[in-house]
Amino acid sequence: AAEPAASLTAGSTRYGKAVDMWSLGCIFGEMLSGKPCFPGTSTLNQLEKICEIIGKPTEEQIRAKLDEIAAQVTADYEGKELLLVGVLKGAVMVMADFARALPTHMTMDWMAVSSYGTGTRSSGVVQIRKDLDTDLHGKHVLIVEDIIDSGLTLHWLLANFASRGAASIEIFSLLRKPDAAKVEVPCKYVGFDIPSDFVVGYGLDYAERYRNLRDVAVLAPHVYA
Ligand code: PRP
Repeated sequence: AAEPAASLTAGSTRYGKAVDMWSLGCIFGEMLSGKPCFPGTSTLNQLEKICEIIGKPTEEQIRAKLDEIAAQVTADYEGKELLLVGVLKGAVMVMADFARALPTHMTMDWMAVSSYGTGTRSSGVVQIRKDLDTDLHGKHVLIVEDIIDSGLTLHWLLANFASRGAASIEIFSLLRKPDAAKVEVPCKYVGFDIPSDFVVGYGLDYAERYRNLRDVAVLAPHVYA
């Protein structure tokens, strides 16, 4: 994901300033040395100190929502062959859990795109880094995303997929930021509408970290301030 804008607001940290400075020191120390702050300890132990775990949504809420949407999708696609297309890398966790929540057969493919480049905001200029292996002709495609932010990535992807002859194309995004939308994206299945805070976890990253957090969390501002 892109780096959050400096103007982003986030809630207060649960930890004191001393801990914040210690955590920040750990991050820079790790970046400079390439070694963990405390060799032998899990980096996840430090994640709880540098992310504000506000638990919106928590692992349990995500699981419940995935079950709910899986039931809807199962009913909507009855008698049809469903192809789930995950957008790498952020959608990995959603895809893994959502696919297992489906009680019916489905196939799975992946697309890797980049719309951020070296900038800090989505550019809307999308590059394909890995294309699908599947011919979409006649397929019922459900794109699986972790988050819709500006909407530019999915806007582009929909146009791209439309030219490939799919029988239908719908979107499932676990998270959506309505206030950040630059283009309208017709998303049939939405897990949670969230504020425009910079979120990490459950597949979402900041500088490639935090994807393995089990909850979605708001990144504490001192991490990028
Ligand atoms: C994130 C996310 C979406 C996209 C949404 O991917 O997974 O694909 O940004 O942003 P948008 O609505 O503003 O276009 P990112 O480019 O950060 O790559 P990643 O999935 O590998 O983290």
